[in-house]
Amino acid sequence: MLRKTLFALVAAIAVSGSSAVSAADTKSVEVMHWWTSGGEARALEVLKDGLKQRGYAWKDAPIAGGGGEAARTVLKARVASGNPPDAIQMLGFTIPEYASQDFLTNLDSIAAKEGWDKLVPGPIQRFSKVDGHWVAVPVDVHRTNWIWANKKIFDQLHLTPPQTFDQLVADAAVIRKAGYTPLAHGGQPWQEATIFDSAVMSAGGPKFYSQALVNLDPAALGSKTMEKAFDQMRALRGMVDPNFPGRDWNLATSMVINGKAAMQIMGDWAKGEFVNAGKKANVDYLCFQYPGTQGDFIFNTDQFATFKKSDASVPGENAFASTVMDKGVQAKFNQIKGAIPARLDVPSDGFDECGQKSMADLRTALKSGTMVGSFAHGHAMPDGPKNAVYDVVTHFFNTNESSADAVKQLVDAVNNAK
Ligand code: BGC
Repeated sequence: MLRKTLFALVAAIAVSGSSAVSAADTKSVEVMHWWTSGGEARALEVLKDGLKQRGYAWKDAPIAGGGGEAARTVLKARVASGNPPDAIQMLGFTIPEYASQDFLTNLDSIAAKEGWDKLVPGPIQRFSKVDGHWVAVPVDVHRTNWIWANKKIFDQLHLTPPQTFDQLVADAAVIRKAGYTPLAHGGQPWQEATIFDSAVMSAGGPKFYSQALVNLDPAALGSKTMEKAFDQMRALRGMVDPNFPGRDWNLATSMVINGKAAMQIMGDWAKGEFVNAGKKANVDYLCFQYPGTQGDFIFNTDQFATFKKSDASVPGENAFASTVMDKGVQAKFNQIKGAIPARLDVPSDGFDECGQKSMADLRTALKSGTMVGSFAHGHAMPDGPKNAVYDVVTHFFNTNESSADAVKQLVDAVNNAK
């Protein structure tokens, strides 16, 4: 009901012509995003330059807050007041949510002209297209089941990437004894959820992950396997430092870069921070999969949608979409951002070993149908159940609740939110 009202409001403003000046008039595109860390901001420059080359200025509308929750809140408010940005970074289920209310520009003609159907992996198109129409354009493929490690600490303690979760626990004890924090973590719900992506995959594999977090099957959610995922979360909680609450993700990454902490479990946007600090893969830092998820691919793709305005021609929006999908732009952007291109035709040269590994693993997972969407970043379930699961995971991480109780909470929370 509220959504319908919002749409009516925006439509009325658009008809009366009193909306914010359109992109076509100003030759600029206002872009809302949450890329405010050092690495993210540097990657963004590539998109800005690409747009400039197409004759449009980039009007920056950054909303700080990793994972984008703050940006989504601001977007809601701006849409409610009839003043959405021209373009916005969006994740997963947020795209169909806005598209189904008819807010987003149809990008079919530019998609057909540039052949996007053949270039973008199916599991990503599932969010870029709604009812068969392109409404969002993907710029990257991030992966959440990564661990980033300080190589000097690993070498000093004669550690190699742990292959099992038990080995990770044993390594953490060695690291702690040597005076380092085993795990750099920022206590924010989305960061705990990001770790949970890996814990669920490690406990049960891709089929279980999908049954539980995509299909929301109560039997999988309430299973002993899910208890194991919470057991892993409990063990990880024991590896953090006392100052973790509220810490931003990039400050946690700095702890690994500066040698205060040995590891961080985080999506590969963390690599963007290493790149920005001039650090090199396998020289200064190690990248490896969370134990038990080797070869598995939990994806999180940043897409951009453009909002319908009173001006039907929206040339700025098309130039913007074309910039985001540009082959050269995607290569350059992702080498800085830490992700890999959303286009499958970008060559892997120019990417470091972590990037090349991700590119190879993505293709394997695509073939075997095991490329699964990140729960933490909105690609597994819609916002309602997602927020409910966030609460359960964060509550568990920050209390002494038992895994058995957490699993019961999980089943109830999802049931109530469905
Ligand atoms: C986005 C990444 C971003 C990260 C931290 C994720 O939700 O997909 O692009 O770097 O949040 O801000």
